Amino acid sequence: MQYLKIKNRTAFLLVTMVLPWLGACNARLQENAEGPRGAHGALDMDQQKTLLESLLPERDVTQSPPGVDPGIWQQLVIPEDNKMTPERVALGKKLYFETRLSKDGTVACATCHDVSRGFTDQRPVSEGINGALGKRNAPTTMNAFLLQTMFLDGRAPSLEEQAKLPIVNPIEMGHANEGAALAAIADDPEYQRMFSFAYGRAPNYDDLGRAIAAFERTFVFLDAPFDRYLAGSPEAISEEAKRGWNLFNGKGRCMSCHQMNPSIPIGSDNRFHNIGVAARKQNFEQLARRALEALAQEGDMKAVDRLAIETDLSELGRFMVTKDRADIGAFKTMQLRNIALTGPYMHDGSMETLWDVMDHYNKGGEPNPFLDGGIEPLALSEDEIDAVVEFMFTLSDARLAEQNQRAFTQQRKLAAAKRPFRDTAMAERRVLPFEERVMGGTR
Ligand code: HEC
Ligand code: HEC
Repeated sequence: MQYLKIKNRTAFLLVTMVLPWLGACNARLQENAEGPRGAHGALDMDQQKTLLESLLPERDVTQSPPGVDPGIWQQLVIPEDNKMTPERVALGKKLYFETRLSKDGTVACATCHDVSRGFTDQRPVSEGINGALGKRNAPTTMNAFLLQTMFLDGRAPSLEEQAKLPIVNPIEMGHANEGAALAAIADDPEYQRMFSFAYGRAPNYDDLGRAIAAFERTFVFLDAPFDRYLAGSPEAISEEAKRGWNLFNGKGRCMSCHQMNPSIPIGSDNRFHNIGVAARKQNFEQLARRALEALAQEGDMKAVDRLAIETDLSELGRFMVTKDRADIGAFKTMQLRNIALTGPYMHDGSMETLWDVMDHYNKGGEPNPFLDGGIEPLALSEDEIDAVVEFMFTLSDARLAEQNQRAFTQQRKLAAAKRPFRDTAMAERRVLPFEERVMGGTR
């Protein structure tokens, strides 16, 4: 380091006065590393585009991307009526960052799925037009093309159908209906040209959904240190992370839902489970009765979308789609790729750090009559919890390494402040009634 060579007195001044100040500036800079925040806390749309271009360099979008099996890409990912072309991706890109798709012109897809914030908004629940808060946490759009259904309750069957909903959801982008949304852009000659190049037709709502989906299928972030480790570079991840990976597959039982293998690379079984998030606060039966009444009035995808985003019925999860009691409080197993960047966690954003998530699983979730059979107390030690967390931090794409490191430092600091039982060796473990009996009620 240069300054160590400077004469003593100057070095002293530097160390005592200048460096701490530089440090403070640096901390502030890091908070806003990518630039100033605009409406609803999102990075300015043009700056997001520049950032995206640096993350996803030009490539031939008609071919399968690196890291994705070409067979899976052709047969399972790309729909017959929406083949990838550069024109479709270009139109989708314009639409993804288009604030005119919201009623008051302040919200785009990229407001809540912000390139600089892990393609999410990093808030517990999302904020739409007029500052309205929804009930759900925004998942990332990175790698979303590998999920079999969209939304935490799977109510949309594809990226195409998903994209058409937030635009007409009253508290997200707020357009009164699809016609009004389309009218906001359809007179623009640029859009007319781009729709025509992309789909050979005038602007229409289905093609709008298709173009956005095509663009989202370029969000491939599957090149993490963990992949390099699996591909035969043992030094790509730490010894602690390797121990975490073993625990993930073994004692932690994470693998039973978050499958990670070459054909399911993102860590989701694409199924729905009640893992007891915030379940203690719910009267599920009362909620279910109210839901059935509301859905009897109007039960299409748009109605479910509104009820899930705006009302307490959100907590019913998959039940809102299937009306099957086994799905009460069940949510889609979320992907774990780039998980460090997409906190806070869970469908309601109720968990701030990955340590909080581990504490949740370690105690066996919140008890409720609909809890998934795969959730039970784990009795992981603090060291074991640290190892699984360390492993999860190896799932961030190499292009996001800096953000990953920043998130690790922030989360570790938060967790240290919030979890005073650190160093008491064994984590809290909920004693089940039968154990109390066996142990003679000693606890
Ligand atoms: C006001 C914030 C907001 C806006 C605007 C928004 N989203 Fe979302 N997005 C969310 C939330 C919240 C969810 C989860 C909702 C749920 O599961 O019920 C979500 C879910 C998704 C998902 C599903 C991901 C998964 O893991 O299942 C995709 C894909 C997505 N949004 C893309 C988009 C696109 C494309 C647009 C623009 C047309 C958009 N979003 C606009 C907040 C927003
Ligand atoms: C029974 C299935 C199941 C098991 C076992 C399981 N998970 Fe999950 N996981 C889920 C579901 C479902 C969600 C979403 C729940 C919600 O939002 O309410 C989830 C959410 C998460 C999230 C938050 C994702 C996000 O973006 O908010 C993390 C992190 C996570 N799990 C890690 C783990 C780890 C680590 C283990 C093992 C200790 C584990 N899970 C075990 C099903 C499971």
